[in-house]
Amino acid sequence: MGASKVCLVTGAAGFVGSHLTRRLLDEGCRVIGMDCFTDYYDRRVKEDNVRDFLEHPSFELLREDIVNIDRCGLGGEGVQWVFHQAAQAGVRASWGAEFSHYTHHNVLGTQRLLEWARRHKPEKFIYASSSSVYGESGRLPMGEDDLPRPLSPYGVTKLAAEHLCSLYFRNFAVPAVSLRYFTVYGPAQRPDMAFHRFIKAILAGEEVVVYGTGEQTRDFTFASDIVEANLAAAKSEKSSGRVYNIGGGSRISVNGVLEIISRLAGREVKVRREPVQAGDPPHTYADTSRAREELKFAPQTDLETGLSVMLESFA
Ligand code: UGA
Repeated sequence: MGASKVCLVTGAAGFVGSHLTRRLLDEGCRVIGMDCFTDYYDRRVKEDNVRDFLEHPSFELLREDIVNIDRCGLGGEGVQWVFHQAAQAGVRASWGAEFSHYTHHNVLGTQRLLEWARRHKPEKFIYASSSSVYGESGRLPMGEDDLPRPLSPYGVTKLAAEHLCSLYFRNFAVPAVSLRYFTVYGPAQRPDMAFHRFIKAILAGEEVVVYGTGEQTRDFTFASDIVEANLAAAKSEKSSGRVYNIGGGSRISVNGVLEIISRLAGREVKVRREPVQAGDPPHTYADTSRAREELKFAPQTDLETGLSVMLESFA
């Protein structure tokens, strides 16, 4: 049965935000999408992501920076669920002068949104956190109670915003939940991310760039599994104030991924090696027992299936 909630999706034109918006509209929800179309990657990609929704009677798009949420007249619409997906993304790009974008969008933006939620009292506030808060936290798989030690400035800002969520929960009862996404992939993946770059290069007969040995591993997670985790967290009565790992259970090395893409695409892979990138954790691996137990989260798409779907989306 549909949920029919009024939802605010920040970052609605982004990779995860657009998948989530589609699912919420299918579920019968009314969605207010908010996105400021930053130019971190080609804005036309984001316009394509929202094009289908613009004609939908239950969708409305606010082209605004969440930092200015108080200026865009979003008040008494009765928003019940907030899905905060907007962020300055990108682990490796967060050094140097770029850092101010990360603090602006990820830290200040989240704080402004939490203040807004404090006043407007949604039933649930889901924050898209990241496996990058762990860095080299020590043990594998990574558990939510491990001490986070981010390796990138990006990870620092994602962790800071997670702490803000717990502060607003404890002090003002904002029903905030943090979902730590582990490297998300699927159709419409951001063009700076590994799978998108790999598939594009392989189909064009060009070299793929591999950072370091390619033996680094990630617990890759298919976009629809991330979407379902968001819905489960929104519907759960236990989730407020909690942090959950959301990982796909498909931990594999970058070299292993390239082998699968090569086989599925029937193409040779030409590799160009570049140095290990500052900020990249050597491994991620999610302990998802908390999400499995409390949210009944169970990833449905294994890597091979997800990669086939992604390859088809490039056809
Ligand atoms: C991704 C997202 O970009 C972050 O926004 C998110 O927060 C993070 O996942 C997360 O899980 O928290 P990342 O794991 O770096 O970050 O995702 P990819 O860009 O898909 O990279 C995966 C691996 O492939 C990394 O080890 C990277 O070094 C490697 N890679 C990437 C290459 O070898 N070559 C490339 O061209 C791109």
